[in-house]
Amino acid sequence: MKQNIYDNDIFFKSYTSLRDSGITYNDFVEQPAIKSAISSLNGKNILDLGCGTGEFAKYCVENGATKVVGIDISKNMIEHANKENKHEKIDYICTSIEDLELQNQKFDLIISSLAVHYIADYSAIIEKVTSLLNKNGEYIFSTEHPIVTARKEMNNWIDDKEGNRLHWALDNYQEEGEREQHWYIDGVIKYHRTISTLINTLINNGLVLEKIIEPQSIPTGLEKMPKLINEQRRPSFIVIKAKK
Ligand SMILES: C[S@@+](CC[C@H](N)C(=O)[O-])C[C@H]1O[C@@H](n2cnc3c(N)ncnc32)[C@H](O)[C@@H]1O
Repeated sequence: MKQNIYDNDIFFKSYTSLRDSGITYNDFVEQPAIKSAISSLNGKNILDLGCGTGEFAKYCVENGATKVVGIDISKNMIEHANKENKHEKIDYICTSIEDLELQNQKFDLIISSLAVHYIADYSAIIEKVTSLLNKNGEYIFSTEHPIVTARKEMNNWIDDKEGNRLHWALDNYQEEGEREQHWYIDGVIKYHRTISTLINTLINNGLVLEKIIEPQSIPTGLEKMPKLINEQRRPSFIVIKAKK
């Protein structure tokens, strides 16, 4: 089943106002890491899977990409992208990754930032990505770290009586599949997969693993969001880069 929480008005308003604040895990942890994994954008034909409001697509064309196709399941996100991050070299398409069909198109770089954990069939995405990549093309994606998605309650910090954080609890690691959580609204579904599934599915599709990043905060993040020091205790995200 495909979920489209970003078209829920309460969720969308809360999420966009968080992102507009510029003080987020995306700004200080995930985005710097995924950008650092890109060798070059110059002259590249790029596909952004789960492009959201199009900031990353805009970043790509401003840094030399020839063409970007950004796709997202959410009408809200695509409307926002077409308003705020419109560009002659970018096409935004409202479709799910699962239903995406791009006849006769191949890409030098496929990016997917924090969308993969919303998708039930990981193997099908990787098969599709592989078929859409040019030879030597790169696939770079970030997802919530399996250490974060594993435990069913998804509320993992264990505190002492005074509320100090003692440690991060890991459980149900080998049990892949749906996890439900409250994030602005009830019933947000994410999918947990082990590290070996994340990696071996790439290998089984003939992709060559190039880099894995378990990012920590950049220095500005620690000043502006002191709780990001916790990224030293457990990573929230994993960024994986593979080549065809
Ligand atoms: C956390 S947001 C990240 C947005 C953007 N990549 C960024 O980094 O700013 C996740 C995005 O994935 C999209 N998404 C979730 N499930 C999807 C699916 N099955 N197909 C396409 N997009 C999906 C959401 O609508 C949302 O825009």
